[in-house]
Order: sequence, then structure tokens, then C-alpha cells
Amino acid sequence: MSVLVLGADGYLGWALLCRLAVSLDEPLIAVDDLSKRERVSMQGSDSVIPILPFDERMALLRAVTGRSDLTGVQAGVVDCVDELVRDHAPRALVHLAQIPSAPYSMSSFAKARETIENNEVGNMAVLYAIREHAPRAHLVKMGSMGEYAACGVPLGEGYVNAILDGEETSCPIPFPRAADDVYHITKINDTNFIAMACRMWGLASTDVMQSIVYGTRTALWRKDPRLATRFDCDPVFGSVLNRFVAQAVSGIPLTVHGGGTASTGLISLADSVSALAHWLANPAGVGEHRVINQATETRISVLDIARMVQRAGAERGLDVQLNLTLDPRHERDRPSRAGPAKNLRLRESAIPTIPLEQGVRYLLTDLMEHAGRLSSAGMTPEVDWKSGEAVEAVG
Ligand SMILES: NC(=O)c1ccc[n+]([C@@H]2O[C@H](COP(=O)([O-])OP(=O)(O)OC[C@H]3O[C@@H](n4cnc5c(N)ncnc54)[C@H](O)[C@@H]3O)[C@@H](O)[C@H]2O)c1
Repeated sequence: MSVLVLGADGYLGWALLCRLAVSLDEPLIAVDDLSKRERVSMQGSDSVIPILPFDERMALLRAVTGRSDLTGVQAGVVDCVDELVRDHAPRALVHLAQIPSAPYSMSSFAKARETIENNEVGNMAVLYAIREHAPRAHLVKMGSMGEYAACGVPLGEGYVNAILDGEETSCPIPFPRAADDVYHITKINDTNFIAMACRMWGLASTDVMQSIVYGTRTALWRKDPRLATRFDCDPVFGSVLNRFVAQAVSGIPLTVHGGGTASTGLISLADSVSALAHWLANPAGVGEHRVINQATETRISVLDIARMVQRAGAERGLDVQLNLTLDPRHERDRPSRAGPAKNLRLRESAIPTIPLEQGVRYLLTDLMEHAGRLSSAGMTPEVDWKSGEAVEAVG
């Protein structure tokens, strides 16, 4: 039996592949169409941490781990997943191969369409390939915590009991989902299709509501720095904490959107990967749609994240300033109503996790090593979510 990792050349995918290469004794098939490399380069940006071409990093991974059963496949999910699942009948698939950017998806019709087609059609191709050829395979799918509707109560773990119009539901129902950008709506739709596939076809899926991931370190980063995972900090593909630390190291004021009142969950890259490895080792049951809220920090405001980076920077002698003038997502008009995420399943897994302050220090240390590759040029322009134009500074 084998495990398929879709999106294996990406930030999470490569880190997971390295981890599984040292911890899982099953052949690994690493699939990626390398579209992230191309999209980032179209933005005039590049991975801050240098990465080898895909075939070379696969060859290096085989050499460092001494494993010959690690196969790289350069192809799009829709083009290859049916054949791969038919030929290998994998025990499990991890599906990470999507376009992961809300700003990208909101910038034009062409990019909204590209995001919808890539993410949703790809997800359907995975579901149908499993149904046709390996209905007992375990699908681990990376969704997003941004799928949940922010409605002032804690974010339930996928399904909740509820009272609707004064009537108690007779079974758990999906926690409400609503999003304000195209990317997250593709994730919501994925979740609906996965839930359908579990109910109607008896597939087994772990659907991970992933909070924002930060950090650099992978299982093999000490063994060979060329096995590091990619790292993006531009405004389109860089997520909030990674971007803040990159800005701090570059001496650019941190772009705290909308005054930083929005809140989010966080988890380190190493912890996210450990959790994925744990779900793979402990699969969902037949017909089960198991939803995991994957965050170690279950609710933190963007302003508090910025202040934490400011403190960590000060420890390293950096004078970190905050820029509160940009509001590309129009957050000032929309008070944050997100509750903290319930993360019972992650806590029950008992995987060791890194305290946030420590994770931020590691990230600072690692990015300071690559300070020369941090391009200040690409770090501040933002796309306004209403107009699709470059955002203007406000009050
Ligand atoms: N990084 C985060 O903070 C975060 C948070 C929540 C959810 N996620 C989700 O986790 C997953 C991985 O995210 P990431 O940050 O590693 O993104 P990433 O862009 O670095 O990795 C995705 C990889 O998939 C590949 N890919 C995209 N579409 C493909 C296709 N159709 N066929 C083959 N390969 C394809 C890309 O080339 C890329 O290497 C995504 O689904 C993302 O939405 C990430």
C-alpha cells in the first residue's frame, strides 16, 4: 500500500513529505504541477528560502533518507489522479494541491475562475477517483478554518447540535459556513462535496479546518538545508504571521490590515505536519466525515500577532513599527465576530506542540539567515477586495 501526497512541492506538502519520508514505512507518491512556483514568479516574487527544482529535491530526499520508494510525479491533479489511484490503490491520499490565496482569488474574474476551477474540479476528481478505484482509501483534505461563519460563538468542530427557531435539532448539523472571498468559498464547497461522498459513497475522510500556518522548520531541515520547504511572504501568497516576521526582518512596518481587529487561529508548520501524520496513522472510519479544527492558538487578534512580532524583534535588536493604514479587506466596516475554535480532536491527539512565542523566535532566526533574499519591493502592495485595484492608505 502507498500514500499519495497531492501538492507535495508546496509549503505544507514538502514539509509533510519530508516528515513522512522519515516516519512512514510505505511508498510515497508526491504529485505537483509546480503551478505555485509559476504563480509566485508571475507576482514578481520567489520563495524566500531557496528550493531546488522538483526532480532534484526528490532525488535529494531519496539520497538523504536512503529510500528508493519515493516517487515524484509532475502533473495536475485532474490529469493524473484517476490513473494514479487506479494503478496504486493507495491506502491514503493527502490533498493539499490547491490555490491557497484569498487575495489572488479576489483580484480579477480570471483569477477567481482559475481558483474555482483548480480547487473545486481538482477536489471532485480526487473524490471520483477514490470512489471508482479505492473506496476504502482514507482521504485527508486540507480545508480552512476560514470556512466557518463568524457568529459570536465558539467554532464547533465540523458538526454541532443546535436550536433553530426554538427547536432542537435531532442530530448534529454542519456548523454554519460563510466566507467573504472566493478562495474560502471553494473550500466550503469542497467540504460539502466531501461530506456528500462520505454519506452517499461511504468514503472515509479527515477534513482539516486548518488555521493559518506559520514557520519554516521541517523534519529534515537540520540534515540538509536544501530540503527546506518554500516560504512566501508577498501580500498575495504570504499568510499573516510569516509576512509580519519577514517585514520585521526587512525593516518594513508590519501591514496590520484594518487596525488588526480581525482574529484568527494559528499553528506552526511543524505542528500542522505532525497532526497530519497523526490523522494518517489514525484514519477516519468507513463513511465518516471527520472534521478537525487544526489550530494550537484558537483565537488571536491580528494586532496581538503584530505586537508579539514587535516584542520578539526587540529581543533581537530590531525596531519593528506597525502600519495601520491599509484595509484591503474592509475589516473596519465589519466588526470581527469569530469565536475561538474548539480543537478537542487536536488536543486529544496529544502531539507535542510548540508555544507561539517560541515558534515566532525560530521564525525570526531562520528568516534573518535569509535576509538578503527578502525583497522589500513585493511586500506592501495589497489588492482591495471590493475594487480589485491596489489598496489606498486610509486614516
Ligand atoms: N498555509 C496556510 O496557512 C494554510 C492555511 C489553511 C489551509 N491551507 C491549505 O493547505 C493546502 C496547502 O497549502 P500551502 O500553503 O502548502 O500552499 P502551496 O501553494 O504552497 O502548496 C500547494 C501546492 O499544490 C500545487 N498545486 C496547486 N494546484 C494543483 C493542481 N491542480 N495539481 C497539482 N498540483 C497543484 C502547487 O503547485 C503547490 O506546490 C492548501 O489546500 C491550502 O488551501 C493552508
